[in-house]
Amino acid sequence: MERVFVLAFVLLLATVSADNPVRTPIRQGNKKVHVRRFAKIPNNASGRPSKLQSLTFRGDSLYVCTGTSGGLIYKVSMRGEVSLFFDVNRAMREAKGREMDFTSAHGGLRSVAFHPNFNRNGFLYTSLMERRKESPSKFRYFSRTSKLIRADSVLLEWKYSFKDKKVLSSSYREVLRVGMPVYDHPIKQLAFKGPFLYISHGDGSVQSAIAGGGQKDDALGKILRINPVRKGAQPYTVPRSNPFRNSAKYKNELWAVGFRNPHNICFSKRGELFVTDAGRDNVEEINIVKSGGNYGWSLREGPFVHKASGGLVNGVGPLPRDDAKYGYIYPNVIVGHEGNRGAGFVGQALAGSCPVENGSPLSGTFLYANFPSDGTLYYSLLSDMRRARTTGPPNSLTQAPTYKAKIYFDHDDNERTRPLVLNNLRDVIRREPGLGGAERADVRFGRGPGGEIYFTSKASGGVYLITSTKN
Ligand SMILES: *[C@@H]1O[C@H](CO)[C@@H](O)[C@H](O)[C@H]1NC(C)=O
Repeated sequence: MERVFVLAFVLLLATVSADNPVRTPIRQGNKKVHVRRFAKIPNNASGRPSKLQSLTFRGDSLYVCTGTSGGLIYKVSMRGEVSLFFDVNRAMREAKGREMDFTSAHGGLRSVAFHPNFNRNGFLYTSLMERRKESPSKFRYFSRTSKLIRADSVLLEWKYSFKDKKVLSSSYREVLRVGMPVYDHPIKQLAFKGPFLYISHGDGSVQSAIAGGGQKDDALGKILRINPVRKGAQPYTVPRSNPFRNSAKYKNELWAVGFRNPHNICFSKRGELFVTDAGRDNVEEINIVKSGGNYGWSLREGPFVHKASGGLVNGVGPLPRDDAKYGYIYPNVIVGHEGNRGAGFVGQALAGSCPVENGSPLSGTFLYANFPSDGTLYYSLLSDMRRARTTGPPNSLTQAPTYKAKIYFDHDDNERTRPLVLNNLRDVIRREPGLGGAERADVRFGRGPGGEIYFTSKASGGVYLITSTKN
């Protein structure tokens, strides 16, 4: 009885401590998350820590992209040995005299994906922002806005030569190009399922979102799906089963619509696409995305109506009672922002990972973290996420609970000594030399060949293994 009372009191405190449109408090989870250092990506040519943007694997190696600090792809072995795999920016220069655009933190190299038949065809794909010196009329655009900046979102194909043991610069091939309205929320991650490449693309900016971004017939705020291999004169083909094949409303390449900044995409073993979508002033989302789904942005933010202005709490309102008739799909997980009513950016945005499904201690979970500040680590149970009711009348919608994780950091690379118990991932980063005062954890997640999860940090240039996800 007493314990129940204390618990209720603590929950009450959690809900009234700050303004937050999401009233469900986040509870402390009971799963232990063990973490250790795995590799250090070299500092860039200016001696700055590499801004690690994404991590994927092929065979038994990890591949890490350095986003805006040079646009390189490093290869990391399972023993943590690091080597430079591909200097994408240099190859662009050699092939076409072009460069990546590093104007904003959203620029540079975003992601790499290896074709499932890489061992035979050597194809790999990169998503990045490319500076455009020529007139836009020289290019074929998938979509572009009337107001163009001097850089585009670009999907490039490259070919690895097994004979020369390197990616050939001369293989540069443009697959898809999107014209951006501002230097914000461009092309994001790539992921293959079978021969089809899924491409997440940001909404372009708050400005474009206010103008209806996410819902328009362009790449902004969408997940696209194509077969990226050239077929005759076609730079790529559209799978016959794409949901908007016969739609007058959306281009054939679109696979799901209504996102803001969907920067993490990852498949489960069942083939479900987990998409972590950074919200604006109020709500972070994780969606298990369905083909042809409309996820609501910029008309909805989480399970709320999104208003063009207003900031925290004031910038969202309740769904209309007849909302189901619009057919939006709502998130499987939401995390509300905290702060003072009316505040704008409050340093909260989620980086998502991949479902853990490998029989490890954290199997059955999905990990995510608040990356722009302290790197608070959260998880939800996959079973809860799959059970969430994401369509229907507003009062029937449910989400999976979010749990806060305690971190057990093997700070001295010795499993026999006691780990440090830490509150967030920034405390891990702050243990690195010279980073005691780091403000942003700036973590991103990726999955390795055994289904284990790593996180990287733009602050430290380090790759860390979540040991509890390793089987
Ligand atoms: C190194 O990274 C910093 C950002 O951390 C960037 O400003 C600088 O231009 C990069 N240097 C090179 C040579 O890429």
